[in-house]
Amino acid sequence: MSGGGQSWVASTGAALHGAATVPGDKSISHRAVMLGAIADGVSKVEGFLEGEDTRATAAIFARLGVRIETPSPSTRIVHGVGIDGLQAPKEALDCGNAGTGMRLLAGLLAGQRFDSVLVGDASLSKRPMRRVIDPLTQMGAQCDAETGGLPPLRIRGGRQLHGIDFASEVASAQVKSAVLLAGLYAEGETSVREPHPTRDYTERMLSAFGVEIEYAPGYARLRGGQRLRAHDVSVPADFSSAAFFLVAASIIPGSELRLRAVGLNPRRTGLLAALRAMGADIREENAGVHAGEAVTDLIVRHAPLHGIEVPVELVPDMIDEFPALMVAAACAEGTTVIRGAAELRVKESDRLAAMATGLQALGVVVEETPDGAIIQGGALRGGRIDSRGDHRIAMSFAVAGQLATGEVRIDDVANVATSFPGFDALARETGFGLRAL
Ligand code: S3P
Repeated sequence: MSGGGQSWVASTGAALHGAATVPGDKSISHRAVMLGAIADGVSKVEGFLEGEDTRATAAIFARLGVRIETPSPSTRIVHGVGIDGLQAPKEALDCGNAGTGMRLLAGLLAGQRFDSVLVGDASLSKRPMRRVIDPLTQMGAQCDAETGGLPPLRIRGGRQLHGIDFASEVASAQVKSAVLLAGLYAEGETSVREPHPTRDYTERMLSAFGVEIEYAPGYARLRGGQRLRAHDVSVPADFSSAAFFLVAASIIPGSELRLRAVGLNPRRTGLLAALRAMGADIREENAGVHAGEAVTDLIVRHAPLHGIEVPVELVPDMIDEFPALMVAAACAEGTTVIRGAAELRVKESDRLAAMATGLQALGVVVEETPDGAIIQGGALRGGRIDSRGDHRIAMSFAVAGQLATGEVRIDDVANVATSFPGFDALARETGFGLRAL
């Protein structure tokens, strides 16, 4: 991973114009490599996200004995080894910054014949793993963490797992996916119920790889012992990466920007609903289906925004978009209230604290609450922001800097490469004022 010392300076640029294609979806890229690796046959993944998180997952499967070729950037050819073909790794497996990588792998590795250790960077080493350890333990896995349920995770192989009917307390696609992946190796049936429906990529992709799986919003069930058939995956553009441009073009006067072929999985698009409720002008064109996922061009035009109470039921559908939404709220007229979003405190950083502190540094009136924030829209001034090594905090303040009256310096931005390599160049191309220090 690149050093954390890198900084950006964001300042007023031009109105955003033209068309942009953001990189491939992170959630789908992780899963495509994972399922391709344990399938029978060769799977081609196109539009693979060349981010540090997803590359870390690919590197881990190489260590588990899977041949993965990169014939060209954003393409991977995964030579599946079959459901029982992974080999014992010689060293600890480094998930980097990726919670998705670590939690899904914990499920996948819990039913192997061999032991494995999952480690991560400083941020990932502070993220809660009890939420996957508990259900996996109920399934018969042996998975130990450091005090407080923190990584590294030490997974003991050679355990026969058994299916469970798991009612998750937290609405988390990572937890659901970990249990389902372990369920592939378990005797009997495994089912997961969620308190609110979350993204269903694991379910959709398992089905595309030939696994019989029953699923509906908030529920999934599969039988262990099934084999996966290789399947080519064409990864749509990541809505979460498009989100920064949706907000930027909404708040920068004179903007009109097209974001091409963005993935619109219904469990990811809460920000669209929230921005539209705030008055945003976002049109959809060229709707299509890309590898079973709805994709569409999003054409966003500047529009005056007003504050809203973000509906609590939208929270899981926009869980990664709150940093961007909070910038929109700061630039809107009136008050925006966010509730029911305590999960933001255990993301790559404590995002409620990082955003509240950062916006306050730019003169915005923000009250941080235990599970949300109350933001008064108003003028932004220049200032200095600590992104806390969190990619989405860094990109959100690059957006905020476009409307600030002075320069916004954003420190510790190297981790933007975990999800959106090339963000700064693409942002400049569309009109952003943004330079590296
Ligand atoms: C993800 C699920 C979400 C999301 C993360 C990606 C996934 O995490 O925040 O960026 O790919 O399953 P949680 O499961 O912790 O909500």
